[in-house]
Amino acid sequence: MSADRRFHPFRLLTRLEVALPVARPLTRRLARRRFDALAPTWDRIRGGHPDSTLALEAALHAIRAVDPRPPRRILDVGTGTGQAAFVLRDLFPDAEIDAIDTAPAMIETARAKPGADGIRFAVADGAHLPFPDATFDLVVLLCVQPFATELGRVVRPGGWVLFAYAMGPTTPIYFAPGTLASALRRAGFEPATHGRTGPGEWTVARRAPGRA
Ligand SMILES: C[S@@+](CC[C@H](N)C(=O)[O-])C[C@H]1O[C@@H](n2cnc3c(N)ncnc32)[C@H](O)[C@@H]1O
Repeated sequence: MSADRRFHPFRLLTRLEVALPVARPLTRRLARRRFDALAPTWDRIRGGHPDSTLALEAALHAIRAVDPRPPRRILDVGTGTGQAAFVLRDLFPDAEIDAIDTAPAMIETARAKPGADGIRFAVADGAHLPFPDATFDLVVLLCVQPFATELGRVVRPGGWVLFAYAMGPTTPIYFAPGTLASALRRAGFEPATHGRTGPGEWTVARRAPGRA
């Protein structure tokens, strides 16, 4: 398959969603339909990219280097079948983990997996998260578009947001580090840190401690 994913339908859909909030009812409906259809084969698709969580793990390492306390409340946004949520559950067994996705079939598939009991999976929209302000120590988005305003609301002051794109710029849903950094800055996060791990790319940013 061509590595040029600029015109991949998911890339276009998520760009539209981020650039034009007024189009969200439409983009959400389209995303739900496409990802519901993909749910039964999603793990097989993901299995073709065995290092898809390496960027996630490298980003967690970068956070730990600055803030060694393990996160107690974690949210995985756009969890799909729980790819990141299960890694987080293994790494942070004492944390409370929520994982949301707009596609009900993705959530059903995640819930059916062994060990899913330890994770609260729910159908929800990343742009309207059903959580109070300043709830999470860490919010993770693996191969997902940024919902920067909501992230600035639900991450507690001093908490972290983490983006990872498993195949870097060739990931179908991909936002460049500079784009993420600007959006996060506007949402109340400190300057972001970026890195590359194998084919993957990651961005982490801490919510400014002064903002309640
Ligand atoms: C590329 S998949 C990534 C899934 C998972 N994070 C992974 O890496 O396997 C993107 C996921 O985001 C979900 N999604 C798309 N738009 C969303 C929205 N507005 N709110 C929540 N989830 C959304 C899709 O349903 C899909 O499961």
